[in-house]
Amino acid sequence: MIRQSRKLEHLKYSILLDDGPAAAGFTDFHLVHNCLPNLSWEDIEIATAIAAIPLSQPVIINAITGGAPDVTAINRMLAEFAHITGTAMAVGSQYSAIETPTEAESYKVVRELNPDGILFANLGAHASPEAAVCAVEMIGAQAIQIHLNAGQEIIMSEGDRNFTGYLANIEAIINKVNVPVIVKEVGCGIAREQAQALAGIGVAVIDVGGTGGTNFLAIEAARNQLTLSDEMLSWGIPTAISAVEVLAAIGENANVIISGGVRTPLDVAKALALGGRATAIAGPIVKVLSDKGIEGAVHWYQQFITDLKRYMLLVGACSIKDLSTIPIVVTGFSREWLTIRGINITQFAERKKNEESMA
Ligand SMILES: Cc1cc2nc3c(=O)[nH]c(=O)nc-3n(C[C@H](O)[C@H](O)[C@H](O)COP(=O)(O)O)c2cc1C
Repeated sequence: MIRQSRKLEHLKYSILLDDGPAAAGFTDFHLVHNCLPNLSWEDIEIATAIAAIPLSQPVIINAITGGAPDVTAINRMLAEFAHITGTAMAVGSQYSAIETPTEAESYKVVRELNPDGILFANLGAHASPEAAVCAVEMIGAQAIQIHLNAGQEIIMSEGDRNFTGYLANIEAIINKVNVPVIVKEVGCGIAREQAQALAGIGVAVIDVGGTGGTNFLAIEAARNQLTLSDEMLSWGIPTAISAVEVLAAIGENANVIISGGVRTPLDVAKALALGGRATAIAGPIVKVLSDKGIEGAVHWYQQFITDLKRYMLLVGACSIKDLSTIPIVVTGFSREWLTIRGINITQFAERKKNEESMA
């Protein structure tokens, strides 16, 4: 019962609260304009893939909800939106349906309404391998997300306090399920060291889930009527920085999803230029569906994708892979952070793509 009301409160406060106070960091990353793009609008292709799962576009609806009967209607809207736009979609944590099987319907509805869609299951890192298999089967998922959310849990009065053994448990999940495992943070980011550890146990995909978007410390503080300092509310690794750290740790062939405060088509273009295979968005989808309904949300999304293609044209990139070869200038706080962490940022500025396209 606690988990049910919690789901409704998460939705409520994700609509009421703004992003931040920390920024996702994309403003420190500048794509270099190409005045001779040498391609036509029809050449621009935005399909991508994550762990060999084909995605018709590089924006995923990240994990949001499921569980309480009242959120079934939200999952229905999300599934219809995903179906119309062809977007891949993750469900919220399915733990409630593992504990209380009668709640499975609020998750299954996303498969019923989107029979051919790409769906990701979702559980926490303490879930048993058997629960992970059950979550995948519940919605016929093509992959499963395992979320890491220590920041959220320790603010929640009813939250977990024991975070030991996660790496070994994730490895056991990988060995048990027959779909790729995506490990994601929910808004505090992933650093290079933990990315290496996750890659070392065979995690197929990392979703950086960085700081700067929906803030679960703020949501839990609001739910629990706590006052947290701005200092604590800003905790974490800004998304753009986390993306570079994770990509530096696990290499160019990595399957990395960039999320957490990805808000604009230019943020998406920058995330993909850094080397992300895809991006994911949660909070804004809840807000746009609540403000404009499905039709308005679809219109908003179509405009979003058109603008993404405009940026691709302006840097001369005809595909998501091509986008990852264009020069990027890193400035400000991100430049300082990454340099101090020993990550070579001139590698981005010195990319040769623009010269090649003129040859
Ligand atoms: C209402 C709401 C509920 C969420 N529930 C889950 C969840 O159950 N499991 C999970 O992994 N992430 C959950 N998230 C986190 C998102 O998947 C995402 O990681 C986070 O919101 C950051 O992305 P954003 O800034 O685009 O919102 C939730 C987000 C929202 C807005």
